[in-house]
Amino acid sequence: MNITILRFDTIDSTNSEALKEARHGADEGLCVVARQQTAGRGRMGRTWVSPPNSGLYFSVVLRPKFDVKYLPLITLMSGVAVYDTLAEFGLKPDIKWVNDVLINDKKVCGILAETTDTDKGLAVVVGIGINLKSSNFPLEIANIATSLEAELDRSVTPFELENSLVKFLNYWYEMLCLENGRGEILRAWQQRSSYYSNKNVRVSLDNEILTGTTDGLEANGALRLKRADGTLAIIQAGDVERLRVE
Ligand code: BTN
Repeated sequence: MNITILRFDTIDSTNSEALKEARHGADEGLCVVARQQTAGRGRMGRTWVSPPNSGLYFSVVLRPKFDVKYLPLITLMSGVAVYDTLAEFGLKPDIKWVNDVLINDKKVCGILAETTDTDKGLAVVVGIGINLKSSNFPLEIANIATSLEAELDRSVTPFELENSLVKFLNYWYEMLCLENGRGEILRAWQQRSSYYSNKNVRVSLDNEILTGTTDGLEANGALRLKRADGTLAIIQAGDVERLRVE
């Protein structure tokens, strides 16, 4: 992938800008990075609070040529790339299905993949937000989120992080595009996530809540959940929360 970086001081959302660029024909590998976002968004219509220089706000345009049924693996691949980036800084991250990267059970990174039709075919934008500082966290996330500064006891610039992230995204995306690459991504995710199997979780779906134990992933990255009665649920999309056994 040929990496080109478009930098903004302030932008509504790097994902919105990358989707726009993709519709205007941007090649795979175009990245959008901003110092702050005024309308950063997360999954399920949530807001991603993005004050100046407090996080890495990053989006990349991809134009995958593989079967659309494997598109969900792009989110898993991105989680693996973020994991490796943080590990390079000496941290010990974890990945919570499907898109959260955690340190000591607190969220340090969120990933939002969005698709758009373009004249050159389907484009996928992967948006990655990594918390660099905790000082601006809104009250409601202060207890469940963390930042690189809090974990490392030193400040990290967006630029330091960006170099490493781009390197690992490039590596793992090229892997995903190979014929046998999908299995490699699933294996890499398994090695890095404590949520892969045997984790007691509650899963919130659109209109129901399931509880059970995680039991690996399907070939397209969907989560297998074993319920208490032994039946298996395949989760394509949902919010996973760890259940602590009292
Ligand atoms: C989530 O955990 O809900 C996903 C959060 C994704 C946030 C990033 S920040 C860069 C990119 N631009 C956005 O508007 N969102 C993503």
